[in-house]
Amino acid sequence: MKKITLKNGDKLTLLGMGTWFIGDNAHYRQEEIAALRYGIEHGINLIDTAEMYGNGRAERLIGEAIAPYDRNSLYLISKVLPNNANKRKMEQACNNSLKALNTDYLDMYLYHWRGTTPLAETVECLEALKNKGKIKAWGVSNFDLEDMQELLALPNGNQCQLNEVLFHLGSRGIEYALKPYQDKLAIPTVAYCPLAQAGSLQRNLLRHPEVTTIAEELNCTPYQLLLLFVLAQPNMIAIPKAGQVRHMKENIACLDMQLTQQQLARLNNAFPSPTHRIHLDIV
Ligand SMILES: NC(=O)c1ccc[n+]([C@@H]2O[C@H](COP(=O)([O-])OP(=O)(O)OC[C@H]3O[C@@H](n4cnc5c(N)ncnc54)[C@H](OP(=O)(O)O)[C@@H]3O)[C@@H](O)[C@H]2O)c1
Repeated sequence: MKKITLKNGDKLTLLGMGTWFIGDNAHYRQEEIAALRYGIEHGINLIDTAEMYGNGRAERLIGEAIAPYDRNSLYLISKVLPNNANKRKMEQACNNSLKALNTDYLDMYLYHWRGTTPLAETVECLEALKNKGKIKAWGVSNFDLEDMQELLALPNGNQCQLNEVLFHLGSRGIEYALKPYQDKLAIPTVAYCPLAQAGSLQRNLLRHPEVTTIAEELNCTPYQLLLLFVLAQPNMIAIPKAGQVRHMKENIACLDMQLTQQQLARLNNAFPSPTHRIHLDIV
């Protein structure tokens, strides 16, 4: 499976697996585990989670799902909440995530979104966890251009490996300033909600005539088309969440499909890239 190489040499599959809301309903648990295992067995190494997701429920379900596999073949990303991103609480938060995931290290720890702790303190804590071997690398999430600029000016700020932000066909604000800035610094973008939460973030997206027509041309679903659009972006990783095996299969199948330049141009025409600065969208 195609991979993106980070500044530190880590290799992440272009398609990762999101896990928000996974583990929340016992009725779906086995199917969710099966979906994650299907993804792993078909080449996906990246699993994105957070202490916030179900208050540890998503991490615990992942811990169960990954138990049969070689830990070193997986790339686990978790996130620390702003309230825990300080000297007093970060190590304990990280320990809790490690315990829930039943592992002794995280491949990547993300600062979930900015809170009130001075950024320099958070960076110090992240570096300290790295030095202890509890995390291999760190990055940020929901950081807009000014946040990235402030971060990169700090001591060790350049250790930031990626920024995870909202991006889908109907929400392209980052293309104007944030993504070009990151691209120049070789900081890839992880696109969350690449399916616009199955359209619920923008009701009309999946019914848009250009989306349905191009999906028909490619013999794929409108959901797959949304994912193909994100996968077509350079320096970008997509992390759709699929709690059902059939959805995981469809998402993986996208890696064998490609939008033509002409189809991409039609999508760009229907959903234009921004021509002015738009502040970061967050869910
Ligand atoms: N850093 C942050 O602040 C942040 C914020 C939001 C999300 N995230 C991360 O990004 C991940 C993805 O975002 P998201 O979960 O909010 O939204 P999403 O991935 O855009 O959409 C998830 C929804 O799409 C459905 N789906 C998946 N594949 C499908 C397919 N092939 N056909 C039809 N429906 C499909 C899923 O259904 P089923 O589950 O029923 O298969 C689920 O309802 C999250 O899970 C989380 O890991 C991070």
